Amino acid sequence: METTDNLRPIEWDDYIGQATMKERLSIHINSALLRDAALDHILLTGPPGCGKTTMAQIIANSYGVDFTSFIMPIKEKVLVTYLRLTDQGVILLDEIHRLSTKQQESYLSLLEDGYLQLDNGDRVESGNITIIGATTEPEKVIAPLYDRFAIKPPFDEYSDAEMRDIVLRMAEAVETDMTDEAAHVLGRASGGIPRNAKSLVFMARDLETMGYGLDVAEILQKCRVDEDGFSEDHRRYCQVLAETGGISGLEILSAHLRLPKPTLIELERLLLKREVLQYTKSGRELIGRGWSVAKAME
Ligand code: ADE
Repeated sequence: METTDNLRPIEWDDYIGQATMKERLSIHINSALLRDAALDHILLTGPPGCGKTTMAQIIANSYGVDFTSFIMPIKEKVLVTYLRLTDQGVILLDEIHRLSTKQQESYLSLLEDGYLQLDNGDRVESGNITIIGATTEPEKVIAPLYDRFAIKPPFDEYSDAEMRDIVLRMAEAVETDMTDEAAHVLGRASGGIPRNAKSLVFMARDLETMGYGLDVAEILQKCRVDEDGFSEDHRRYCQVLAETGGISGLEILSAHLRLPKPTLIELERLLLKREVLQYTKSGRELIGRGWSVAKAME
């Protein structure tokens, strides 16, 4: 059966974009290898679907150790079992901000001194394990834990050209025809998020499998996204903001849209990038084409 595993790049050269982060991480990894030392703990921060897990896998691969990932929160005994069985490797603690404050505090000794202190007084040593924390909401990571990650390279926004190349690479991996022009449109419609690109490429593949030709308008329509990468939630956001007179605070928008603030902040990322929204002292303001994005709902 065909699998989609080859969609994820496993080497730096195949990972498109994030040149600064890749260079910085390579320096740390190569230095650790030359010093025969453990790689310092790393915190990856970026929007959902931006490629944090893929990046973590490449880090483990280029450092030459096994990779394991857990989506937080997990029970302490899961981590204890892992630590007792392993003394070398990279472990990804994904969504680390979802741990309670108490759980985050219990991880401090793990990062600082290489052991986990259990409630019964036992210590579980973590050997030469490197911890990669990943989060979409760094403000929810307690300061002492945040500080204990020695390496915190920021994710940059992907340009539309990088997104086009990501689409081309994914299409090739799933053996689907893709022109540069189509990849450009689908890349832009991915709104700077590789995971969105994957959904669009899968739709292209599935339509092709069903015998249809490559038609980007149809792909976008079926995936309910427009050429700017705006989804229904983006359009609803603009509509609600338009209804409040075009300027409003986050609290009010969150109440009207019935969406949590972090979700709104993620929607705003693309609205700001596309210059249909701006932050002002009096609140979020709809600008330029933002008014027509709101109308597209009607
Ligand atoms: N898949 C997920 N993120 C990617 C990236 N930045 N480059 C290539 N493929 C990816």
